[in-house]
Amino acid sequence: MNIEIKTQIPGPKSKKLMLHREQHVARGPFHVSPVFVANAHGAVIEDVDGNKFLDFSSGIGVANTGHSHPKTIKAVKDQLEKFSHTSFNVTPYESYSLLCEKLNQKTPGHFTKKTFLANSGAEAVENAIKIARSYTKKPAIVCFDHGYHGRTYMAMGLTSKVIPYKEGFGPFPGEIYKTSFPYEYRATSKNFVETAFADFKNLVNKIDADKTAAVIIEPVLGEGGFIPAPKEFLKGISEFCAKNNIVVIADEIQTGFGRTGTLFASEQLDFTPDLITTAKGLGGGLPISAVTGRAEIMDAPMVGGIGGTYCGNPLACAAALSVFEIFEKDSILQNAQMLSQKLREKLLYFKEKFNIIGDVRGLGPMQAIELVKDLNTKEPNTDAAKALVKFGYENGVILMSAGSFGNVIRFLIPLIMTDTQLEEGLNVIEKGLAQL
Ligand SMILES: Cc1ncc(COP(=O)(O)O)c(C=O)c1O
Repeated sequence: MNIEIKTQIPGPKSKKLMLHREQHVARGPFHVSPVFVANAHGAVIEDVDGNKFLDFSSGIGVANTGHSHPKTIKAVKDQLEKFSHTSFNVTPYESYSLLCEKLNQKTPGHFTKKTFLANSGAEAVENAIKIARSYTKKPAIVCFDHGYHGRTYMAMGLTSKVIPYKEGFGPFPGEIYKTSFPYEYRATSKNFVETAFADFKNLVNKIDADKTAAVIIEPVLGEGGFIPAPKEFLKGISEFCAKNNIVVIADEIQTGFGRTGTLFASEQLDFTPDLITTAKGLGGGLPISAVTGRAEIMDAPMVGGIGGTYCGNPLACAAALSVFEIFEKDSILQNAQMLSQKLREKLLYFKEKFNIIGDVRGLGPMQAIELVKDLNTKEPNTDAAKALVKFGYENGVILMSAGSFGNVIRFLIPLIMTDTQLEEGLNVIEKGLAQL
């Protein structure tokens, strides 16, 4: 047994820390659970009251190699003993270039690549757009309905959901155009892929392909509710963009680093973007992000055009290099395949058993269930998703919701989770579903 609940949730120490938080921290940052962490190892989080939880959220898809992986701890400690910061823009260091080399080798596409490192996912998105505009000398960017790209201004502008991400923060940057994403479960016709592709082409023709710099797409929508993009849709976009000198950017910030069972989701979707943004799992818990892609595109900004004080921080580079080593030496991807089969089987069984589940979908272990009030009307059941998340943490499983209507429960398990841990967590979720 990994789950151990000793107090009412939240326990007294967490309650006290929450009061302190409320007094001193801005209201804005949300919390999925009301418990404060004391330590986290592998797939288990222990709170300050000694309660133990199975982590089904991986700190929003970060702890793919597990919390506090010994190899990552050692790599960061060793680096810390040497130096923790000089700024790559002031006094460069080798680990930055080594990490870029790894990303160039491991990301999809057999062409010469280069990489730029930043700190967060949103910052990678910002830079991918800067690089694409600099290369094409065109202004417009196309993004997709239900997409999420972060909280800085360009990333927010590219993000679809208004509440809470954009509420009160406008105006947003210009030259951003949104088109439909092929969302099978809520599609009104069987031709939903063709329709979405036609919408995309019509939009670019209206903007004018000569004014369109880039298209940014998540191969599997993350915050949007774990909806995989159909292969033929991605193929159509790639071909259209190649003909029209439009840069294709895959945002693999949530889907990368084994989240879908392969190192990158694009590999399974036969998708070869020109640029790819990564973050989250890349750093194994340390903040780092990257833009990787065709060398001629990446080299478009002039010297000094992209950068930042902390971009590619040495501690984070050391952690990211350890993440690659873990993927190369440990059997993380095999474990991810095993987990994905068991998870999917169980979720499909839940769908048979509980008529609150309208859809089970995803790619590899990146699976989700969409909760509805009625299987025919498909009316989103946001309250049920909230109740299941609450039941989860009260009974030892940290779960997260997602989706434009907040009615999707997404499974972001650490990929080092054991099948018994998965089983234990899913048993809690089954009890939770039975109570809805
Ligand atoms: C697909 C995608 N892009 C961008 C981001 C933003 O990353 P960050 O929160 O590190 O800025 C996220 C975060 O959830 C994401 O899922």
